[in-house]
Amino acid sequence: EKGGFPSFMEKEIFDQPAAVADTLLGRSDADGRLTLDELRIDAEELTKISKIVVLACGTSAYAGSVAKYAIESWCRIPVEVELSHEFRYREPIVDENTLIVSISQSGETMDTLMAVRYAKEQGAKTMSICNTNGSTIPRESDAVLYTHAGPEIAVASTKAFLAQITATYLLGLYLAQLRGNLFQGQIKDILADLGKIPSKIQDILDRSDEIKELARSMADASSVLFLGRHVGYPVAMEGALKLKEIAYIHAEGFAAGELKHGPIALIDDGQPVFVVVPSPRGRDSLHSKVVSNIQEVRARGAKTLVIAEDGDDSVKDFSEWVFYVPETPTLLMPLLATVPLQIFACELASAKGFDVDQPRNLAKSVTVE
Ligand code: M6R
Repeated sequence: EKGGFPSFMEKEIFDQPAAVADTLLGRSDADGRLTLDELRIDAEELTKISKIVVLACGTSAYAGSVAKYAIESWCRIPVEVELSHEFRYREPIVDENTLIVSISQSGETMDTLMAVRYAKEQGAKTMSICNTNGSTIPRESDAVLYTHAGPEIAVASTKAFLAQITATYLLGLYLAQLRGNLFQGQIKDILADLGKIPSKIQDILDRSDEIKELARSMADASSVLFLGRHVGYPVAMEGALKLKEIAYIHAEGFAAGELKHGPIALIDDGQPVFVVVPSPRGRDSLHSKVVSNIQEVRARGAKTLVIAEDGDDSVKDFSEWVFYVPETPTLLMPLLATVPLQIFACELASAKGFDVDQPRNLAKSVTVE
């Protein structure tokens, strides 16, 4: 069942072109008109929404953080992302104009289920982005948008994450279409860019040996840091989580702008730091700020490991190692930049002899509070 791969996790990393393609499949027509009939929330009701609150845990919450950048940019609706277990224990302000979007691979995460129930009691509309047909969270929600990643067996989430991000993009574009925030031509162009993502992921997978070699050389690392800005920030958080979960290495993700507010004190000679660099074709200030961050940590002795876009020559001089991902619009970049970090964690954990599919102390679905 592992399709010739040594672990489910590695197989699932390699399933990602299909996970993204299948999640996009059949959800728009040739003119780029989205038809999310399965949603079951009235189009008119959706146009009245004044706020979106994303509720999720772990990797699924990082998918929500990526969604915040895209949905706010495309739809101009404020999006809050909150861990389900934090949301439940304060007094959150939600009403009938709030759309709750829960994200859960399993659809059984108890904290997320309880948070959705609570929001529903307060009168909010609830939508579930879920990978498991007929599971509890979609059954209890007003609407559901299924991700089509296929069953995810490894405890560490990989293909479900990319499928979740894809689904939130579809939701954002659908809301922009309903509310008239984007022209139909713009939506069509973004869908065309999304359609190219599966083959770009494949391109990264075809070069996985470059990443695996680095991972094996770092099997003795005791701490790895991850930096990102904008959509690169949740990617950094996810890269760190993967490493903690399966390789049991201390890892932390930071917003690159926070460095000087504390974390830079951690940097000394040889400290490995992954940096997710945004496209140089995007907002210029974003790219140049991240390049300065690479220089700052390097000047303090860090071993800089950089994920950058094809053709970005500005990072070479400051990096011990660079992995190039294909060009794509900045908002879609997490679908590519995450992949090398998944491969890195999987290979490093395997090199240490750990069972990457069944990491210690963790369960695939957390059905207790
Ligand atoms: O099934 P869910 O998406 O609700 O699960 C949420 C988290 O438990 C899950 O993403 C967890 O963080 C994974 N082990 C991450 O790899």
